[in-house]
Amino acid sequence: MNVLVTGGAGYIGSHTALALLEAGHSVTVLDNLTNSSTVALQRVEALSGRPVNFVNGDILDSTLLDTIFSSQSIDAVLHFAGLKAVGESAAEPLTYFINNVTGSLTLCNAMKKANVFNLVFSSSATVYGEPTSMPISEDFETGAPTNPYGRSKLMVEECLKDIAASDSRWCIALLRYFNPVGAHSSGMIGENPSGLPNNLLPFISKVAAGKLKELCVFGDDYPTVDGTGMRDYIHVVDLADGHLKALNRIVKSPGVSVWNLGRGEGYTVLQMISAFENATGCKIPYRVVARRSGDIAECWADTYKAQVELGWTALRTVEDMMIDTWRWIRKNPDGYKN
Ligand code: NAD
Ligand code: WQD
Repeated sequence: MNVLVTGGAGYIGSHTALALLEAGHSVTVLDNLTNSSTVALQRVEALSGRPVNFVNGDILDSTLLDTIFSSQSIDAVLHFAGLKAVGESAAEPLTYFINNVTGSLTLCNAMKKANVFNLVFSSSATVYGEPTSMPISEDFETGAPTNPYGRSKLMVEECLKDIAASDSRWCIALLRYFNPVGAHSSGMIGENPSGLPNNLLPFISKVAAGKLKELCVFGDDYPTVDGTGMRDYIHVVDLADGHLKALNRIVKSPGVSVWNLGRGEGYTVLQMISAFENATGCKIPYRVVARRSGDIAECWADTYKAQVELGWTALRTVEDMMIDTWRWIRKNPDGYKN
């Protein structure tokens, strides 16, 4: 297939672009590079031995989208482009809603004009809000995400459901990621957060690399096994594989399909620290501080639907996640800036 990957220079998009190329698909990446580097795409080309057609631009630019769709025959769109910093979304909700929601709608409009109806959307477990039981299955009610970023994902999901209901040509996958971590085993592509990391494993890595003094553990009074927050961490290469499986499936299934992409197993913050220390030999100094506003106690996926319908299971362990993250960090201490 000829696949347009929006946000394909970013963390998950670059790993998925690589998986697409390795599976024999052709890839056009549209990315405005607000949170990424073309070096990632050069490395994707080097790893796959195949070219990426890169367009530096914005999903809000409908003229550019029309040009992309009219200049080549695109079969499907994997839509990763978006802003994802939870704290920033509370400070700048308009920016998030315009970029994530208006951007997604602009993209869908251009797709419809070009008669391209296969779409895989990067959603998030955040759309489930704070469920009362675990594990979370796809038929759980969505609602009440705790921040504008999460609401932007839920809004796009709702819009996509209406769009698909109005026209049976749409084939849409909503992929609800749990907590993506890790890096490609080559150490050539990985997560490259600018500034202070928001997420746990990038923060742990910076402490291990000596760039930050200690990790702050946000609360140890949650109702979990050791009181710290529990999440379902999933290796980014498994996540990328899930996209290929979802893409292959939706091209034959009109309507909207929803799949959780997680491992189905929760790890607490303290368990993640131990796992990193055991896998890498690095000591992670930490201090327990107050809970972070908006955090929930625990969140992990019921993976049955993805297993049965996509034939997809995450294969990589938490130890793999730690080893691959650490290899990426050691090889690229300044991210893609070296
Ligand atoms: P990322 O920031 O690394 O990648 C997003 C990419 O989109 C970046 O390269 C950025 O430059 C690009 N982009 C942003 N706005 C754009 C626009 N208007 N036009 C063109 N390009 C634009 O993030 P990621 O971790 O790879 O996440 C990819 C997608 O998955 C996002 O939609 C994110 O919300 C979603 N998601 C991520 C996580 C996570 O924890 N990483 C979890 C759930 C869902
Ligand atoms: C994991 C655990 C923290 C940092 C976020 C978004 C979600 C999705 C994935 C994008 C929690 C604890 C963290 C630190 C800590 N994003 N923690 N110290 O919050 O589950 O999910 O990223 O689409 O929408 O909300 O991930 O990695 O930030 O936190 O103690 O310095 O680690 O409290 O329990 P989260 P996270």
